[in-house]
Amino acid sequence: MATQTVATTPFDDQKPGTSGLRKKTTVFMQPGYLENYVQSIFEAIGGVSDKTLVVGGDGRFFNREAIQTILKMAAANGAAKCVVGRDGLLSTPAASAVIRELKTDGGLILSASHNPGGENGDFGLKYNVPAGGPAPEAITDAIFARSKEIAEYRISDAEDISIQMIGTAKIDDMDIDIIDPVAIYQSLMESLFDFNAIHDLFVSGFRMRFDAMHAVTGPYATAILEGAIGAPAGTVINAQPLPDFGGGHPDPNPVHAKMLMDEMMGADGPDFGAASDGDGDRNMIVGRGFYVTPSDSLAVLAANAELVPGYREGLNGVARSMPTSRAADRVAEKLGINAYETPTGWKYFGNLLDGNLITLCGEESAGTGSNHVREKDGLWAVLLWLNILAVLRGSVADIVKAHWRKFGRDYYTRHDYEDLETAVASGLIDDLRGRLSALPGQSFGGLTVSAAEDFSYADPVDGSVSKHQGIKIAFEEDARVVLRLSGTGTSGATLRVYLERYERDPANHGIDTQQALAQVIAAADEIAGIRSKTGRSAPNVMT
Ligand code: G1P
Ligand code: ZN
Repeated sequence: MATQTVATTPFDDQKPGTSGLRKKTTVFMQPGYLENYVQSIFEAIGGVSDKTLVVGGDGRFFNREAIQTILKMAAANGAAKCVVGRDGLLSTPAASAVIRELKTDGGLILSASHNPGGENGDFGLKYNVPAGGPAPEAITDAIFARSKEIAEYRISDAEDISIQMIGTAKIDDMDIDIIDPVAIYQSLMESLFDFNAIHDLFVSGFRMRFDAMHAVTGPYATAILEGAIGAPAGTVINAQPLPDFGGGHPDPNPVHAKMLMDEMMGADGPDFGAASDGDGDRNMIVGRGFYVTPSDSLAVLAANAELVPGYREGLNGVARSMPTSRAADRVAEKLGINAYETPTGWKYFGNLLDGNLITLCGEESAGTGSNHVREKDGLWAVLLWLNILAVLRGSVADIVKAHWRKFGRDYYTRHDYEDLETAVASGLIDDLRGRLSALPGQSFGGLTVSAAEDFSYADPVDGSVSKHQGIKIAFEEDARVVLRLSGTGTSGATLRVYLERYERDPANHGIDTQQALAQVIAAADEIAGIRSKTGRSAPNVMT
């Protein structure tokens, strides 16, 4: 067996976005496509000679084949060892935990997150750094630069190895450890949460449904909730990871997790419902008859974290992505800790976590996490909620409503306009950007603009500046609109419009969200010309 050096020509589209490189599965399956990208990663990080890498994915179509290719390329590039999840599985947060626990030189995570899988679905690959988080821009830029110049890649001509059983193997001189994908993650959870208290909650008759959506969290949730904690069998549904996620769209929101939502909205529904996405980093939280927005969830978790062993010492600070509602900021203010506003994308939290400036962070897109790993973590958020419920013993709805009474309510919705022509979508943003300075003082249907900016973020730790991260428009009436283009889509452009309004008075906390935000929605349309420019009369998705 020997290393082969294969001549190749660059593909021109291997620019990693906020979550690595994401493409149609068929694009990744083209001869040389995956290989070029992997070689570009290896070279951009200074080679992998003598390094140890973690490799695993969410089990979607092409996961196994891609892992074999990556292992053979790591061997040919001189890596000392690869640590692989059994069956090629590792949830994204578990991969982060393994990278950190074993102090490896980073890892490769195969996933397109919540995007559908299968031959006609999406595939993705990203490199995570030794701290366990997604590569920062300097590295993704270097990967992209390499991908444009690449002329050859290195791969071993060894046979495929079996990764179905825990144990060790070798490709040429490289060692391979095939590990239980759950074990390291599970002990981390045990160190943070009071499993006994959660066990007692279940013993008291508390009922829960966790929808793994036929994605990677199935084995994790089954082992931890039903195994270690002792929740009744059947608590976890759709627990078997499938290459096409059973034909579903593994995005934990009320639309795609409809089966769970229907059960939760029923009169005799479980007390607590939760779901996670394809690679296990997102979460949805729902009580009986009561959906919790991710922005509210972050705020409630921040306000109650001290009830839980892993956070008993209090929080260093909290961070949220810019379009996430300001609910968490209000908690931080009461707690007397700092609140940070970062651009969209988990990688911006990395430095704040590494620098101990924050303990909890989250995004409106169903991502919540803490300093325990460097990725958002779906099951962790579920366990944090469970531990808080085990202490407070109230219903989810009661806890959130009490939170609103104390801090006020941030009504919040996101409107997505999908599959727009790229030129139309960027034209809309560019046009708005050009008019920002004229907006303050102007009124739109009863709302007066107090500030308008093209959001730019200066990282407080390394000083790096990220510009053009979204248009933020604030109103004197304590309302806010954010507009930005999605960076994770694989076809056309998606315009995301984030709308929110603060309401202090508890008498007004029971209004329907879209109704409560009607004025803000109208103002956003008037300011940006969304309907006229896109030709759409309504968004495709409202969350
Ligand atoms: C979306 C979310 C963002 C999240 C990212 C990766 O990105 O909006 O919060 O970090 O997926 O899960 P977008 O498509 O908006 O660029
Ligand atoms: Zn994900």
